[in-house]
Amino acid sequence: MAARPYFVTWSAQEGAVELALERAEGQTLFLQGGHAVLDLVSTSFHTNFGHSFAPILEALRQQLGGVCTSIAKASTPQRSAAARGLVDAVGHPGRILFTLGGAESVENALKLARSLTGRARVLSRCKSYHGATLGALGVTGDWRRNGQVLPEGFGGFFPDPASDPEGDGLAACVAAHGPDRIAALCIETVSGANGVHGAPVGWWRRARSLCDATGALLILDEVLCGFGRTGPCFAFQDAALAAAIVEPDFVCMAKALTGGYAPLGALWVSERHARHYDAEVLSAGLTHYAHPLGLAAAEVVLDVLAQPAFQSEKRALEACFSTLVGGLATHPAVAGVRHAGLLAALDLRVPAPPWEHFIEAGIHLVVKPDMLILAPAFTTTQAELARGVSLLSILLDAQMASAEAPWPGTLEAVTAEAGTP
Ligand SMILES: Cc1ncc(COP(=O)(O)O)c(C=O)c1O
Repeated sequence: MAARPYFVTWSAQEGAVELALERAEGQTLFLQGGHAVLDLVSTSFHTNFGHSFAPILEALRQQLGGVCTSIAKASTPQRSAAARGLVDAVGHPGRILFTLGGAESVENALKLARSLTGRARVLSRCKSYHGATLGALGVTGDWRRNGQVLPEGFGGFFPDPASDPEGDGLAACVAAHGPDRIAALCIETVSGANGVHGAPVGWWRRARSLCDATGALLILDEVLCGFGRTGPCFAFQDAALAAAIVEPDFVCMAKALTGGYAPLGALWVSERHARHYDAEVLSAGLTHYAHPLGLAAAEVVLDVLAQPAFQSEKRALEACFSTLVGGLATHPAVAGVRHAGLLAALDLRVPAPPWEHFIEAGIHLVVKPDMLILAPAFTTTQAELARGVSLLSILLDAQMASAEAPWPGTLEAVTAEAGTP
């Protein structure tokens, strides 16, 4: 008999580690035994308003009193309002295809780009993640692709902009794959789980002009960055980038679209492509299309993000976060820090302590062998942020001091070892 009657994601099942979660409140996860863990990564970059955000909870309660199942082909004012809100948030004329999550948004973008151009190939970054469905995984550039190679001629990977700031490698990749065979470039505007790598403005100009010259479409994957993570509503709306990108062809969204309170994703399709489906059949659909519970949460998210008072508090939190993670750049264990808004990656000089050590110490974040990633909720207090970053720094002190020595077992022991009161 297997230990668990379900699968743990992205893990060999034997020995897979999970959080023994009892409840969650605000930014805190309470584990069995009452152990409190400050969530510094918005769970999976999606609970941007924490775990008990009253406006979303209230909207869901109200929705439960009305229509709360999806009727795929029902026209409702709620559906139109949510779609209009998303198009306005993108800031260019377009239409919305609702999905249930990020991978489905990417999957539909790949499908539409291929059908609109009549071409097969999609190029993406060497270091990227686009979702766990077959197409999205096929254009993913990290360990999670794990042999899921799509048929020859489907995808290709261009060098990361960090090592190709002028875009020469991108241009060479386009040339090698055949400019008239490429349906789209699929790009995380700022990569998330692969280390918070943006791209220089000049690189984006080159990408835009390559798309214009070859007829390839530009798919921006904003699943992780969308809805304020890097500052603006979408990462591509950073003023300099927006000027270089001009207008994307597709924008993929999910995760924080509902603050994580219901599964919902969306694909924004530029109006000039959306029109194509006025006369042609759109081969896309879902049983749970435009689910009312997801839409109810999404409407609150869009509304809250647009409130000036919320925006100014968020900007203050971003400034605090920038100071705190910027301060870690001088930590001897830290080789480099990249951050934008409330998203940060720390490159480490020493192997990262195991994820369980952070949990034991009371903080939850993404731990890679040589990197840590933080993405606190927008509702985190500055005091919580300061406490979280200080705990992180203490753990890194301990890691530096005793890279070889076993984990002391408790936070008290770590702080005692690190000589911190
Ligand atoms: C950039 C990006 N795209 C797509 C996805 C897939 O989203 P989902 O897990 O909702 O399918 C993720 C998830 O982590 C992501 O970070």
